[in-house]
Formats: sequence, C-alpha cells, structure tokens
Amino acid sequence: MTQVSTAPVAAPTAVPGPTGKLRALHAMSGNPLDYFNDLRDQYGPVVRVPLGFRDLYLVSDPEAVHEVLVTSHRNFTKATMSAGRGEWVAPLSVIFGNSLTTSDGEYHRKQRRLIQPMFHHERVAGYGRAFAEISDDIQSGWKDGARLDLTVEMTELTLAVVARTIFDVSLDSDAARTIRTGIPRDEGPLRWDSLPFARYLSKLPLPGNKRFFEGRAKLDAIVYGLIEERRQGDGQGDDLLSLLLASRDADTGEPLEDYQVRDEAITMLMAGHETTANALAWSYHLLGSNPEARKRMHEEIDEVLGDRLPTIEDLPRLVWTDAVLSEAMRLYPPIMGMARRPLEEFELCGHRIPKDSFVALVPWVNHRDPKWWPQPELFAPQRWLKNPQPADAADELTGHAVQPGRPRLAYLPFGAGPRQCIGSSFSQMEGVMALATVGRNWEFEPVPGFTVDPLARITIRPRHGLPMTARRR
Ligand code: HEM
Repeated sequence: MTQVSTAPVAAPTAVPGPTGKLRALHAMSGNPLDYFNDLRDQYGPVVRVPLGFRDLYLVSDPEAVHEVLVTSHRNFTKATMSAGRGEWVAPLSVIFGNSLTTSDGEYHRKQRRLIQPMFHHERVAGYGRAFAEISDDIQSGWKDGARLDLTVEMTELTLAVVARTIFDVSLDSDAARTIRTGIPRDEGPLRWDSLPFARYLSKLPLPGNKRFFEGRAKLDAIVYGLIEERRQGDGQGDDLLSLLLASRDADTGEPLEDYQVRDEAITMLMAGHETTANALAWSYHLLGSNPEARKRMHEEIDEVLGDRLPTIEDLPRLVWTDAVLSEAMRLYPPIMGMARRPLEEFELCGHRIPKDSFVALVPWVNHRDPKWWPQPELFAPQRWLKNPQPADAADELTGHAVQPGRPRLAYLPFGAGPRQCIGSSFSQMEGVMALATVGRNWEFEPVPGFTVDPLARITIRPRHGLPMTARRR
C-alpha cells in the first residue's frame, strides 16, 4: 500500500520525473493524455514534470488522490493560476467570477451549503420530464441515413436541458439563442488562462479577446435580464435561477446579491452542459464500434420502455444503459483534470511537494491504470453490473468495477471530497435518459475512414467532432 501521510516520517525524497523542460512542454502541448500515462508507468504514483515557469506534480495513486481531494483538502486551494501580478486565481474565473467552482474556503462552504439542496435527488428527479422531452425534441430534424456530428447534436441537447432547468427558457427563445451563440469557448483569456502573463495577453486587441469579451457581455446581459424578470414575478419558479434568488443565508438570512446569482448561474450553465455532451458523444463513439454492446442497450431500452418516453422511475431498470455511460466516462472522462496548489509544503507517498506548485489529478490516468482496470483500453460496460446475469458469469470483467477492493478513486470523473461535482446525479440521470430516449428510435454508425482523436483542454472532446451516420431503428 502506498504510504500517504502529512506527518513527518523518514526524510521526504525528491519526486521522480523526466528532465528537460522543452521536451516536457512539447509532449504536453501534443498529446498530454498518453504522455501522462507513460509518466505514470515510468515513474510511479507521483511524478514531477518540469514546465519552465513552474513544476507540475502528477498524482495518480488513488490513496494519494484521496489525500489531496478529501483528507487534506484544506491544505490545497483551487487558485492555481498566477494571473500576472503574483495574484492567484482559479481557472475559468474570468468567465465564472467568484462561484462554487472558483471560490475557496469559507465563501465556498457557504455557497455549497446554500446550493446543495437544489441538487438533491428528489429535486433533480423533478427535471426528469424535461430530460426526456428535450431528448425527444432534438431528434425532430434527423433523417435516416444522414450524417450528424454527434458532438454538435449532444451539445444542443444538453444546452437545451440547462436552458430549461436553470433559466426556464426554451431552446428557440431569444435568450437561449444568445446563450448558444454567445458562450465564449476556447477564446481569448480562456486559451491562455494557464500562462503566468495571462492578464496581459487578455488586454491585447486580438480578435479572440474581442469575441470573448463581447460574448461574455451578451451572456451577462441575458442573465441579468432574467434575474430582473424573476424579481418582478411571483418567485414561485422551480428553475435554478428562481431557487438561487429565493435562497437565504443560513446565518444571516440575507439573499444573494445579483452578481452572486449571475456567477453561480453562469457556472452551472457552462459546467453543466459541455461535460454531459462529451459523455454522451463518447458513449455513441464507443457504441459505434461495439455492436454487441449497442444491441444489448437497444434490447434493454425496448424492453423497459416499449413505446413510451422514459421517466425517472425507469432508471433502476436501465442498468446496461447506465453502465454504458459510466464506462464511457471511464475511457473518456469529460473533464481533463483537477488542479490544486499546496498552501504549504506537503508530503505525499514519501515525497516532498513544494508550496505553490501545481498538483494535477488526471482521471484519464487513473481510469486507464492496469493496476486497477484489467484490459484498461477495452470498452466493457459489464464492468459496472452489480447483479450480473448467468450469461455473463464467465466474463472476468463482469462486475469488476463494483467489486470490493478496487480503490474508490480509481474512478473519479466527478472528482471527490467537498469539491466533488455538485451536478453528478443531475448529469447521470440526464445522460441515461438521453441515451434511452434517443435509443428508442435511432442508432449511429461510425463513418468509415474517419479517425476520432481526443482533444484534451479543460474538457476531453473529439478534436474534429464526431460525424456518424444516423439509422432509424
Ligand atoms: C458528465 C458530466 C459532468 C462531469 C464529468 C463533471 C465533472 C466535474 C468535476 C471533475 C468537478 C470537480 C472539479 C474540481 O475538484 O476541481 C466538478 C465540479 C463542479 N461541477 Fe461538474 N461535472 C459534470 C456535470 C455537471 C453539471 C450537470 C453541473 C450543474 C448543472 C455541474 C456543476 C459543477 C459545479 C458547480 C462544480 C463545482 C463544485 C464545487 O467546487 O463545490 N457539473 N464537475
């Protein structure tokens, strides 16, 4: 067992890792995912990667990950980016402001307490109908034999879901159109967020910067407009915006300021749609090249649903569909990684991690570690079956993912500890209901000769989209 401790034991040693900053930077800018896996194989559970201005510490041992995210989480902050003047900020603050994802300490604890009830199982279950109806609507323009880009279609679907559940607007409203076209992606400051001189680059008169700030301004105008509308209304809405506006601080009884509501609403809008869209797109990619798994999913959907749309009550019976989504998130975790900065020097697995360094936890590395995942590259939803059927019994992978003994944080698409994704049940329910609703009528085949290549930025998504041929079932 890996020794993970903050207590002083034998003198901590330097962390092993590659030398050569340029080589590391080059490898990181090419294919960081395979590079990280190679580093894990070569150097072990904690690896130091020299990056020029700052070292990165890749932590992959599940116990060590638990130490960082759970046991000793107070020793770390999410403010990992040095924005240019020695001021630390969390990635994405430029768009999210000071919200659940970007804040730390007491402010974060307070916001989390306030917002957590909005994501309780019963509350999310209330959105079940929206999940199914939107997944049904999205198919209206699809034609048998047509080529669809599943990343685009799934983004439309998940954007419509957050538009409805967060803002109570439909996808053909002006507000939703602005949300769809105005959302800044990979532009301007979001591109150089991780560089030490990001603040200065953001001020340059570059087209990407201009588009980003214009997009953000449009989004703000929409959100503040919706806030104003809600304030004029009866305060009875059950969308998240109404709930945020109705919420009161447990200690002071004070409501949130408008700018706080804006920050949280934009965070959920952004954090809550591209992630689930990626999980769905990767599911279709994997099902495309695994006809057996696809057939089994369709048989399950037909048996459970017959002619009707799914409801939340169907979820416990959509076992294989759920396993497909979990397995897709194992092979292609929608979020590239979690970043933390140690507030003090820290000891992990007998190694010294310096204060203010960059600690990276990368689910891709844990999810493809052969120590925890036999045949890690294989798409095998049966890993997730809790009660395998007799027909599966001889398969060594069946039920593996839920067997006792596998460390919990060998799988962490949603993170862990007090910063674990607040929307994890929301997206799992949404994802399974979307697969089931779409799967009633459609299946998707890969386009011959098209290579799907993961692009790892903040999220992991197909680099050149995911064209597939739609077949009506
Ligand atoms: C497949 C879908 C999703 C994945 C893989 C995912 C992944 C993650 C991960 C890994 C974190 C932890 C980040 C860290 O510790 O640094 C996180 C946090 C968060 N996620 Fe998600 N997410 C998903 C869907 C959603 C949805 C649907 C929402 C909201 C509607 C959401 C809202 C948030 C928020 C607000 C946080 C910050 C929580 C905190 O720090 O207290 N996510 N997510």
